[in-house]
Amino acid sequence: MSKKPWKGRFQEETTDLMERFSESVSFDQRLYRHDIDGSIAHARMLGERGIIPEENSREIVEGLKSILAQIDGGTLKWDQALEDVHMNIESSLVDLVGDAGLKLHTARSRNDQVALDFRMFIREESGRLGDLLGALLESLLRTAEGHFGTVMPGYTHMQRAQPVLLSHHLMAFFEMFRRDHGRFAQVVDNLDVSPLGAGALAGTTFPIDREKTALDLGFSRISRNSMDAVSDRDFAAEFLFAAALCQVHLSRLAEEIVLWSTQEFSFVILPDSYCTGSSMMPQKKNPDPAELVRGKAGRAIGNLTSLLVILKGLPLTYNRDLQEDKEPVFDSADTLSASIEIMTGLISKTRFDRKRLQQATVDGFTTATDLADYLVTRDVPFRRAHEIVGEMVRDCLERECALTDLTLDEMRRYCEQIDQDVYDALSVQSSVKRRDVAGGTAPGRVKKAMEEARVFLDQNTGAD
Ligand code: ARG
Repeated sequence: MSKKPWKGRFQEETTDLMERFSESVSFDQRLYRHDIDGSIAHARMLGERGIIPEENSREIVEGLKSILAQIDGGTLKWDQALEDVHMNIESSLVDLVGDAGLKLHTARSRNDQVALDFRMFIREESGRLGDLLGALLESLLRTAEGHFGTVMPGYTHMQRAQPVLLSHHLMAFFEMFRRDHGRFAQVVDNLDVSPLGAGALAGTTFPIDREKTALDLGFSRISRNSMDAVSDRDFAAEFLFAAALCQVHLSRLAEEIVLWSTQEFSFVILPDSYCTGSSMMPQKKNPDPAELVRGKAGRAIGNLTSLLVILKGLPLTYNRDLQEDKEPVFDSADTLSASIEIMTGLISKTRFDRKRLQQATVDGFTTATDLADYLVTRDVPFRRAHEIVGEMVRDCLERECALTDLTLDEMRRYCEQIDQDVYDALSVQSSVKRRDVAGGTAPGRVKKAMEEARVFLDQNTGAD
């Protein structure tokens, strides 16, 4: 005889094809701990409120605990015919404790149950991702601290633009991941609402205590509208957005690493332990982890898009389409955590070629703006100064020399106001030093930024 709860209404068994098509237990079994926690809180409350006998409530709780142990130990058999994690656990409970188990679903629907489980899952994953981000932030900060003083060309349009400190460049990524860290905390704040008690859609006729179950399950608020509670997946969309944006940030960092490790750039040497070779070309060492992280951004963006599209045409309230909300979330959580971990390891093991970075900065006319700024201090209007320096650069390119190779006399032919101290203005070190503005690349400013980042890490993450 069928174990399905709706057997009373049905005269025919579900076909195998339908069973396979509609089941979700193959993936939503991942929610089992949250499902059991939710059920335990619900059962206790039912007992305390006298909705079911205390004795039954105790039997249910004990039964659920032993099912939890079975699942943890890998001995519970999941049954596709029972569709999802919720019905599998409930059915095992009935097998285990008999009639008391039949009372668990009083004053509850799978609709508020799944909304609850999913919130708890995303809450936990967001916390975990926050911790992993803490480790990534730590590894970026350590690398920035370790290379304090190293200069490199900063780029715009992929053209060498102005000298910056390597630490400043790395700290730019620190800022992105710090915001991602905050975004996951925000996801947790926003989802901190218990939907339990919404029932199927309209609430319940039983005198339940919504505040109590919310409190037991670590929620500080309860949903205000039962219809919204069972159909809302904003929290999942916000999680997927936070994950997609974080993956995009990782992808940008990955792209830099791919570029920097090319022979053309040769700014970094990647650790062998994170690379692979070519099956054909013996000289190759490929930056695979960075390429994969970059590639996986496509999945993270796809997962966000997928959920938004699922939601966009759904009438209130619960629709089975919503079962499709889980896999994108599971996938983004897994993809992102693996990507953060790999980038954390990669950053901490990558070697930067200080000389090569310095040379690239000197070679690229990166202090041309400093020369224009110098002329401005000699009363040349900026637009005019810009034009003069542009001509100097063009001539140097023709002569295949650097600006600093021009003699003072040669320089004065472009502009009389130039003096001997121009050579200092053209030096990479002084260029960096003079960007002494809040948020700028001057060593003092970067040092302050790193100190502030250290305090942030100490206060906001578990990383050490
Ligand atoms: N497996 C379902 C889901 O993930 C659980 C809720 C089912 N509710 C229902 N009314 N069929 O959405």
